[in-house]
Amino acid sequence: MKFDTIVVATRNAHKAEEIRAMLTGLPVTVKDLRDFPDCPEVDEDGETLEDNALKKARVAHQCTGLPVIADDTGLEVYYLLGAPGVFSARYAGENATYADNNRKLRAAMTQVPARRRQARFRCVVALVAKGSEQFFEGKVEGDILSAPRGTNGFGYDPMFRPDGFDESYAELSAEQKNGISHRARAISAFISFLQS
Ligand code: IMP
Repeated sequence: MKFDTIVVATRNAHKAEEIRAMLTGLPVTVKDLRDFPDCPEVDEDGETLEDNALKKARVAHQCTGLPVIADDTGLEVYYLLGAPGVFSARYAGENATYADNNRKLRAAMTQVPARRRQARFRCVVALVAKGSEQFFEGKVEGDILSAPRGTNGFGYDPMFRPDGFDESYAELSAEQKNGISHRARAISAFISFLQS
């Protein structure tokens, strides 16, 4: 499949820059929703990451008329039976900040021993283009730290240590995180599809 332009359906600057960096080198112009200020906000009220990603991509496609990718990501903590999962953005409440969510996660995991702190980030990317809707998935396994570490990245990055690393996501450089992250894996599946 070939596109001249692709819109990343996000206004989150961190996320937009992460995805833009991953798409560098492809012969495609990358835009995001900051380039389309009139596109409506989407209520992420789906029951799954797939529901939310598809909803965001469909709305942005309708609004821009261009091929769109949208991602939805959840941190799935096994001890918490998959929570916060699809509720990751509002784990500590409707207007929770990243710090609020990390505080709640830290408190929920206080007494949990090292061997039971496994978690994974799961990212679903939905592509909506004329006549085409597809999903791509990326997962990274790791564990939840007992206290936040590092200042890079965003969201739960300071609380998550990916398998095979001593550092949290927030202690890795943007290049290191972009090389291994859940979103990188989902976007890489999307790139393989584009090139197929
Ligand atoms: P979103 O709806 O896909 O933006 O993600 C939901 C929530 O998951 C965000 O508010 C963040 O708290 C968290 N999140 C998403 N991606 C990442 C990431 O790469 N690192 C850390 N947290 C993330």
